[in-house]
Amino acid sequence: MISNFIIFLLLFNCLNCSIEKSDLAIGFIILSQPNEYHKSLAEQLKVNILNQAKELHCEHKIKIYKSHEDFGNVLGHWTIQPLFKKLSKLENLDWMFFLEDQTHISVKEIFKIMLSYNSSQNIFVGYALKDSDPTIIHHFAATDENSVISYPHFSAGFFMSFSLISKLIMECKDCQFSIDPKYELAKFIWDNSATKLIHEPQLCLKKNLDICATWITENIPNCGHAIPAKKIFVAVKTCTKFHKDRVKVFEKHLGS
Ligand SMILES: *[C@@H]1O[C@H](CO)[C@@H](O)[C@H](O)[C@H]1NC(C)=O
Repeated sequence: MISNFIIFLLLFNCLNCSIEKSDLAIGFIILSQPNEYHKSLAEQLKVNILNQAKELHCEHKIKIYKSHEDFGNVLGHWTIQPLFKKLSKLENLDWMFFLEDQTHISVKEIFKIMLSYNSSQNIFVGYALKDSDPTIIHHFAATDENSVISYPHFSAGFFMSFSLISKLIMECKDCQFSIDPKYELAKFIWDNSATKLIHEPQLCLKKNLDICATWITENIPNCGHAIPAKKIFVAVKTCTKFHKDRVKVFEKHLGS
C-alpha cells in the first residue's frame, strides 16, 4: 500500500513537471541593480521564482540570473543588447524570460504560455506598446501599421527563444547611448533578425485576469524619510544659446 502510494506520488510529480513544461529549459533574467534596495528586491524575486519552480518539481529545468552581477558587470546591461553575447554562451536553454525586480510572476502560467510557441523559431513576446504619434525619443519613427515598431513593457516581462538570442550577438553600435531601452531593443531585434514583437495578453500590467502570468502592483515602496528639498540638487545640461530662453522656462517650472 505504501509503495503504491510512493509510486503514485512519483508519477504525479513527473506528470506535473512534464505537463507544465515538457522538455523546455528556461533562463530567467532579473534586470537588477547594485544598490541595496534593488539588490534585495532581486534576491526576493529569485527565491520566489525558485520556490514556485520547486512546487512544480521543475527547479532542475530553470536557471535564474541577475543582470548586474551574473555576467561580469556588462556595461549597459539594463539595455539588454550588450548581454546577448554572454547569453548566447549559456547552455541547454530554450527560452530566456526577462523581468524587472518588481514584476510579479506566476511561473506555472509562464510555462504554459511558452509551450504555445515554438522555441526553434525566432520568437520575441511581450506586452506590446505602440506609438500613436511620432515621438522625439524614437527619432520620429513612422507610426503607420506596416512600419510601426512595437516594443515590450519591461515591467510586464518579455521573453525570447534561445534561437533568436543566438542571432543577436553582433556588437551594438550605440549601446552606450540609450534614451528608451525598450524601444531600442525592439528596433535592434527588428533590424538584425526581422523579428517582430508578439503581443501576449497574459503578460499583464494589472492583475485583471486570473490567467495573468505577470503583473505589477501599484504599491509605492517604503523608501524611508523624505529628503528635504534643500538637499535636492537639479542640474540642467544645456549650452549658452539656451541660457536666456529654455533654462529660464525650466527654472520657472521648478519654482526656483
Ligand atoms: C518548430 O519549428 C521548427 C523550425 O521552423 C520546425 O522544423 C518544427 O516542425 C516546428 N515544430 C512544431 C511542433 O511546429
